[in-house]
Amino acid sequence: MKLVTRNMRLMVAAAAICGFSVAAQAANIGDPAAGEAKAGLCGGCHGFDGNSEDATYPRLAG
Ligand code: HEC
Repeated sequence: MKLVTRNMRLMVAAAAICGFSVAAQAANIGDPAAGEAKAGLCGGCHGFDGNSEDATYPRLAG
């Protein structure tokens, strides 16, 4: 039960971040520095090089 609650919170956080990035992208098209700042947020869960060590978070690096 505890684990389910924790995962729900993570999903809400991920969804909030995704919504934020879409809004920010519309305002600043083609700003690489802004993109890097946002990718840093993703690293908190997915690993800073895209290779998360935690199986909960999929590897983005392929
Ligand atoms: C709060 C932690 C968290 C953050 C921050 C986060 N993610 Fe995720 N992400 C997840 C989880 C958990 C999943 C798996 C969801 C599932 O399997 O249903 C996921 C899945 C994904 C996937 C799908 C990968 C696949 O192989 O299925 C992509 C792409 C992704 N995230 C990109 C990003 C990007 C880009 C950012 C930064 C804007 C980001 N994530 C930030 C937790 C996070």
